[in-house]
Amino acid sequence: MSRRPVIAGNWKMHKLQAESAQLVNDLMKELKDLDKAAMPEVVVAPVFTSLYAVNKAMTDCGCGKVRLACQNCYFETQGAFTGEVSVEMAKDAGCEYIIIGHSERRQYFGETDEMVNKKAKKILSEGIVPIICCGESLEQRESGVTDSHIASQIKAALEGLTPEEVAKSIIAYEPIWAIGTGKVATTEQAQEVCAAIRACIAEVYDDATAEAIRIQYGGSVSADSAPELFAQPDIDGGLVGGASLKPDFGKIVNYK
Ligand code: PGA
Repeated sequence: MSRRPVIAGNWKMHKLQAESAQLVNDLMKELKDLDKAAMPEVVVAPVFTSLYAVNKAMTDCGCGKVRLACQNCYFETQGAFTGEVSVEMAKDAGCEYIIIGHSERRQYFGETDEMVNKKAKKILSEGIVPIICCGESLEQRESGVTDSHIASQIKAALEGLTPEEVAKSIIAYEPIWAIGTGKVATTEQAQEVCAAIRACIAEVYDDATAEAIRIQYGGSVSADSAPELFAQPDIDGGLVGGASLKPDFGKIVNYK
């Protein structure tokens, strides 16, 4: 199966415009010698206020090796939704991917499975790729409900999507206890859940859709842990937080 790995940097709420442009310029320099056709897909997700600066830096460089994402969106097109940004607006700013359902958004900003589903539908209808996050808490893992919890998040997020839309989407499996803690899941734990996600998609859709969708691992990925994690049969790259703000990210992209 030839799924192209996709490695995305989630910059979270970090970096001013000039710093963001600097970060992406540094990354593009690091990737200079990589063969574009053979390398993983590389995505960065700055804060909204830095999208323009990062997009401009990418256009000026013209290397075409890094693509743009944002970290959230709203599912309405426009209107009286103070503080929100629509998918059309993100697309207008150069985004080709949008992260939705991140555990921090679920925890601090009340994002529900239903909202994730509405966002996924809207994103796909605009030809953008949703990076749909899921993951269990430490308590859920310890009480043995990881697989059922993840399956319910995935089923809810994908509800009503066509197999073609699902095949184009990306799922990021991020155990909450591994995010920003330096406590990366073991390769076995990560592979096991990513395989379970693929099996869940095969059950709800079909084998071809399950084989096509890309599933990332996220949670304290580093240049040290990336090679083994990304070599797993059901892990197609990663969603990287902390390490995406450092030169480490170039090494993660170059993990092979
Ligand atoms: P981390 O974050 O790599 O800092 O653990 C990952 C994420 O939240 O996407």
